[in-house]
Amino acid sequence: MSFISNHKKVERNATLLLGLSFVVVTIGGLVEIAPLFYLENTIEKVSGVRPYSPLELAGRNIYVREGCYVCHSQMIRPLRDEVERYGPYSLAAESMYDHPFQWGSKRTGPDLARVGARYSDEWHVDHLADPRSVVPASIMPKYGFLLDSRLDGENSEALLVANRRVGVPYTDEMIENAVADFAAQADPDSDYEEMQARYPKAQVRNFDGQPALTEMDALVAYLQMLGTLVDFSTFNPDASR
Ligand code: HEC
Repeated sequence: MSFISNHKKVERNATLLLGLSFVVVTIGGLVEIAPLFYLENTIEKVSGVRPYSPLELAGRNIYVREGCYVCHSQMIRPLRDEVERYGPYSLAAESMYDHPFQWGSKRTGPDLARVGARYSDEWHVDHLADPRSVVPASIMPKYGFLLDSRLDGENSEALLVANRRVGVPYTDEMIENAVADFAAQADPDSDYEEMQARYPKAQVRNFDGQPALTEMDALVAYLQMLGTLVDFSTFNPDASR
């Protein structure tokens, strides 16, 4: 009986109700958040994951600028149908250098987390320029103008610096060579070995097939590396836990 009458006090006093609610929410929050600070690592350690090369990063910026994420997610969930369709489920480590992340909550088109190396460069260029030319029922917009927008990569250094500020481990060497690495990746006749040493598995090609370096080169370079860094033939998800 006394408990109920005490409760009446709380219900009739807005300040007291607010104060007590705050105490309850604080306890709940602590219980949820505090353990995270004592975990050694919330992201599994996975070999192969590295920061984006300057060309891939430029392509990623175009992907974000054009709003590709409005229709495409980049996160394969650990559900059987998704794994069968798209490949191994996404690991937290695979998006740890993503600013902003591209997980997405809507799929008008398919998930792109592992689209890399699935199609040829020509397919991507044709598909981006005119999706209906390769997938007749597609509702994806055309992005042919990317073939005409030249890129010189001069802002690569600034881009890497900005990403380092938010925690991506770009080294001074990577930042110094950013502009050269940007061009080297799109030119198979260049000396690209050093670039590849800095960014293992970086693919070197003339991605859009045109002489000029364009936004299409950068976007296709980005698409072709998505999901290709971790070797799932040897990766054991339990061993890294
Ligand atoms: C209006 C929604 C929409 C937007 C915006 C969009 N797409 Fe798509 N995309 C689709 C649909 C639908 C498909 C499936 C049909 C097809 O292959 O064209 C698709 C397919 C794809 C595929 C083939 C995936 C696969 O596994 O077969 C790629 C790659 C792709 N889109 C890249 C992009 C990129 C890059 C952008 C931004 C420049 C973009 N999309 C913007 C709707 C969209």
